[in-house]
Amino acid sequence: MENAVYEKLMRCYKTVKEKIDFQPKVALVLGSGLGDYADRMEIEAELDYHEIDGFPVSTIPGHKGRFVFGHVGEVPVVVMQGRVHYYEGYSIQDVVLPIRLMRLMGAEVLFLTNAAGGVNFDFHAGDLMMITDQISSFVPSPLIGPNMEELGARFPDMSDVYDRELQEVIRRTAKELDIPLQEGVYLQLTGPAYESPAEVRMCRILGADAVGMSTACEAVAANHMKMKICGISCISNLACGMTDQPLDHKEVQEAADRVAPLFRKLVTKSIQEIGKQL
Ligand code: HPA
Repeated sequence: MENAVYEKLMRCYKTVKEKIDFQPKVALVLGSGLGDYADRMEIEAELDYHEIDGFPVSTIPGHKGRFVFGHVGEVPVVVMQGRVHYYEGYSIQDVVLPIRLMRLMGAEVLFLTNAAGGVNFDFHAGDLMMITDQISSFVPSPLIGPNMEELGARFPDMSDVYDRELQEVIRRTAKELDIPLQEGVYLQLTGPAYESPAEVRMCRILGADAVGMSTACEAVAANHMKMKICGISCISNLACGMTDQPLDHKEVQEAADRVAPLFRKLVTKSIQEIGKQL
């Protein structure tokens, strides 16, 4: 049966293969705060999203959109510099297309990063939180529609979305680097408005520690394709209603930028350690 989502993915994959000869083991998605990570890498190849026909490109002004290929230590990595969000108006299948594409390129591990609002009262702006589990129920599943058997099962198990061994590697790495690391559950809402205080209370009651507008749907698609997944949120602010400050995108971005050096260090060393297990 014809499946438009699958065919688009395959068209994109064909374009990438024609342009790039590089086999990544790890796929890294850069969230706010880590945006310039790739600029410090030894770049071996890059591919602008615009060069891939039909590929979703960010509508946010100033957001770079490209795949960067290179090595972190010895580990071949594809970096997604710039992701698209559901709130930009793309279908959820388009939002996760880049993730599926990086899996087809050969990546076995997906390393997700983002900026998020802290919902847990023990958190502070500037904390890093390793994601141990997620709630994606507030955004549509990217697996809705005819199942693409070539990619994965109709009813994928979700018991260990965030791989336990990778969690242990990140935990150990943070300890070695003396970087404090919180842990918790990430909940994805659609955005683009920040949450109301009542919604933040709802998130907390549901068991979330952090709230954001990305990531969980990407993990659903990656889990479908049996990638090993790990993720770290930069808690750029406490969520609405938890302080007497209103939320401002610029301040959220600045807070994420301040932790960036530590965040970069943790991600780099973690990828090197993860590479030893592949
Ligand atoms: N809510 C949702 N997404 C976010 C936040 C927030 O408070 N901060 C950064 N991304």
